Amino acid sequence: MVGRPHLVIAVDGPAASGKGTLARRLAAYYGLSYLDTGSLYRATGLAVAAAGAAPDDEAAAVKAAQTLDPSRYSEDQLRSPGAGEAASQVAAIPAVRSALLEFQRGFATTPPGAVLDGRDIGTIVCPDADAKLFVTAQPETRAQRRHLEHAGRGDALSYEDVLADIRRRDERDSGRAVAPLKPAQDAILLDTTELGIEAAFQTALDLVESDLNERGQSA
Ligand code: CDP
Repeated sequence: MVGRPHLVIAVDGPAASGKGTLARRLAAYYGLSYLDTGSLYRATGLAVAAAGAAPDDEAAAVKAAQTLDPSRYSEDQLRSPGAGEAASQVAAIPAVRSALLEFQRGFATTPPGAVLDGRDIGTIVCPDADAKLFVTAQPETRAQRRHLEHAGRGDALSYEDVLADIRRRDERDSGRAVAPLKPAQDAILLDTTELGIEAAFQTALDLVESDLNERGQSA
C-alpha cells in the first residue's frame, strides 16, 4: 500500500472475538504498527498481583498503571486466564484508564500509523480513527476458541469455566461506567461466529477498505 497517508485503524470487541488476530493481520497488510491494548491492562493486573494487592485496590492499580513496564511479563503470563480476569477488574477503574490513555494515543499518532485493538479504541482512544471495526461472535464460539488457546498453553481450564469467564468479563466490560465495551456509532460490525481466520480477514479487509473509501482515505 505505497503512498498511504498516516492511517489509524481501531478494532474493538469482546474477549476471543478474533479481534487480535484480525488487527495483527491488518497491521501487516497496511504496513502499520500494532498495539494490543488489552496487554496493557493485563500487565497492570499482573503488576498489582506482584505487589501483593487485590485487583480492585484502586491505589495499587493506579500506581501499577503509572509505572507500567509491559515487557516485564512473558506472553504466556499475559495471556493466562488469571491475567484476563485481573485486567478486566483494573480496567474498570477510571484512573487506571487515564494513566494508560496517553501511551495509547501516542502510539497511534506515531508514524507510520497503527492498528490498535481493545474495547474503547473507536470510542475513546482514537475517536478520529480512519476505519473502525467492531468484531463480535457468539459467546459459545468465543469460549471454544479461547479454550483451545488455553489448552495450547497448558492451562487446564474446562470449556464451561472459560465460557463463564467470558460471560463475566463481557458483563463487567459492557456495564462499567467509564469506556464501556460498545461499538462506536461509526464502527462497522463484523460477526466472526461462522468465519474461519482467513475468511474473517478477507471480510475485515473489504470492510476496512470500504470504510477508508467512504472517509476519503483510500490509496
Ligand atoms: O483477548 P481478550 O479479548 O480476552 O482480552 P484483552 O483484549 O487482552 O483484554 C483483557 C481485559 O482488558 C478486557 O476484559 C477488558 O476489561 C480490558 N480492556 C479494556 O478495558 N480496554 C481495552 N482497550 C483493552 C482491554
